[in-house]
Amino acid sequence: IPTFTFPTSEELARHVARIVASVIRERNSYGQTAVLGLPTGSTPTGVYRELVRMHQEEGLDLSNVITFNLDEYYGISPDQLQSYHRTMHEVFFNHVNVPAENIHIPDGNVPHAEIESYCREYEREIEAAGGIDLMLLGIGGNGHIGFNEPFSIRNSRTRLCTLDPITRKSAASDFFQEENVPTSAITMGIATIMDARKILVLALGEGKSNVICETVEATPSDRIPASFLQDHPDAQVLIDEAAASKLT
Ligand code: F6R
Repeated sequence: IPTFTFPTSEELARHVARIVASVIRERNSYGQTAVLGLPTGSTPTGVYRELVRMHQEEGLDLSNVITFNLDEYYGISPDQLQSYHRTMHEVFFNHVNVPAENIHIPDGNVPHAEIESYCREYEREIEAAGGIDLMLLGIGGNGHIGFNEPFSIRNSRTRLCTLDPITRKSAASDFFQEENVPTSAITMGIATIMDARKILVLALGEGKSNVICETVEATPSDRIPASFLQDHPDAQVLIDEAAASKLT
């Protein structure tokens, strides 16, 4: 899996934003939509900031963009501080011109009995949009992508998942304490992610160095869900020097 290391997180963010912008512009030049798969979390915030800047200062037009977020905590309302709905609007959607009807983020409030049909419908909407052109991913310290925790199956689709204790621990500060972190989340599956035409995995900092090493160098297995990306025809790993420090 091609791996590129950047001296600073700002340079990485600019590089990724330029790739996103070029997909958007190319599609726009043919009068077509560009379908993006988007993560939340701390890693992509610099990319969103740079895309907002390109929109505001360079006139980057996002009116042809359709977005699908990877995941959302289950049992959380969209206006709650920790919801990915709220975060995505605060860091990105409120500052650019993606049409509201083109934004898709899993609903963390679907009644339990309706989750299965809701998730099937999320998959159907991705398909109806023409599939995901460009998927951005962060990576959990345990190798999760989206909320596909270790031992998620390769063929998994959008579904309700139980969060790993490691994931809940690392989210504890957002929720003020670990007990408040939801125990499950709705996430795109590994197969949903692997269907994207192009995938960029982003990681920053020393804390991700072990998992980046396993993602890139270990034999692909469900132990490190991100390692499945080695089998994708157009996936790249984009990291800073700290995250690259364990690569051989
Ligand atoms: C969030 C998501 C997660 C994060 C991962 C890394 O939408 O899909 O897989 O990308 O947990 O989170 P950060 O970037 O906060 O280290």
